[in-house]
Amino acid sequence: MSTKRKTIAVLPGDGIGPEVTRAAVEVLADSAAAFGHHFEFCELAFGGAAIDRDGEPLPADTLAGCRSADAILLGAIGGPKWDALPLAKRPESGLLRLRKELGLYINLRPVRLRPALQGISPLRADRVAGCDIEIVRELAGDIYFGEHELRGENGNAHARDVAAYTTAEVERVARYAFERAATRGRHVTSVDKANVLSTSVLWRRTVSAVGREFPGIVLDHLYVDNAAMQLLLRPKQFDVILTSNMFGDILSDEAAALAGSIGLIASLSRGRKDAPALYEPIHGSAPPLAGKDIACPLGAIFSATLMLRESFGLAQEAQHIEAAVDRVLDSGYRTMDIAEPGSRVLRCSEFTAQGRHEMHDALLHTERYGWGV
Ligand code: IPM
Ligand code: MG
Repeated sequence: MSTKRKTIAVLPGDGIGPEVTRAAVEVLADSAAAFGHHFEFCELAFGGAAIDRDGEPLPADTLAGCRSADAILLGAIGGPKWDALPLAKRPESGLLRLRKELGLYINLRPVRLRPALQGISPLRADRVAGCDIEIVRELAGDIYFGEHELRGENGNAHARDVAAYTTAEVERVARYAFERAATRGRHVTSVDKANVLSTSVLWRRTVSAVGREFPGIVLDHLYVDNAAMQLLLRPKQFDVILTSNMFGDILSDEAAALAGSIGLIASLSRGRKDAPALYEPIHGSAPPLAGKDIACPLGAIFSATLMLRESFGLAQEAQHIEAAVDRVLDSGYRTMDIAEPGSRVLRCSEFTAQGRHEMHDALLHTERYGWGV
């Protein structure tokens, strides 16, 4: 077992962000201690918390800390306190800038139904059981990063948001989607609106061309409205969904609901392979839950295990955490948002403590009997 030294920038952010990132940091620290790695955590101000401290959501020292880290763990940002600010000053603008500055053009959102949580999916078991989808969302272009304009007063206003893509921007994210599919079900569904949008015509043409570099992978195209419907009707038809920034934002929330809760879903945002990647749960800051220790830490914990696998090549360590969490769920422990009748409802910190306890137990067992027993 080779020892790894890693620096992790931690951006707790707003609302439930600090609670859930604390949970993820605790399991990462336990994992490092158990497997002999050295993880150094460096906490940085971001989002609304940074606006309150420095007047801007992405202060220079936060950006510098992210650039020099091996990976970044982010909680969530935003909240009613900053909602009245103009778009360019809101916490969300800090996240968009961070994505831009770090060149994070790929966003991966794995949506997997955990057997213990089958009952909380809004779909019947025969439709959703075994569902395992990876959404690959383009993250650095589209209507998110085009010009935004709002002029004039209420009765006589004019607004514009420009959507734009280049061939190169589509190619690089498409390649990633095909590479992911090659390690899984060998099927990419590209989602666009090529019956209406020029950016989508370019998207479809470019994805088809990249697809020809991967003859072993089946490529389908769906219009986004149909894709939204198919996700509910026949989610098991999907392996890797490849889509643009805006459509990916929307479809990934819908797909998360299939798994039972948006609180369960992790994400990876990355660019070039040698640059630090960013990991975050896809849920928001959930202001009504903030500070009450009742949020679900699983989106953040799975973001940590995604980090272990994708940035650090530590698959066994990730598996150790996920298996422990699954045992906690199998024992009927839940946080409030993923509870079913008869569940044993725990607070966020208690649920995390149960997971750490299971990790520790598994380790003692392994010391006695070896891995894989
Ligand atoms: C997400 C979020 C962000 C986005 C917001 C907070 C800017 O919804 O990561 O999905 O729209 O990309
Ligand atoms: Mg979103």
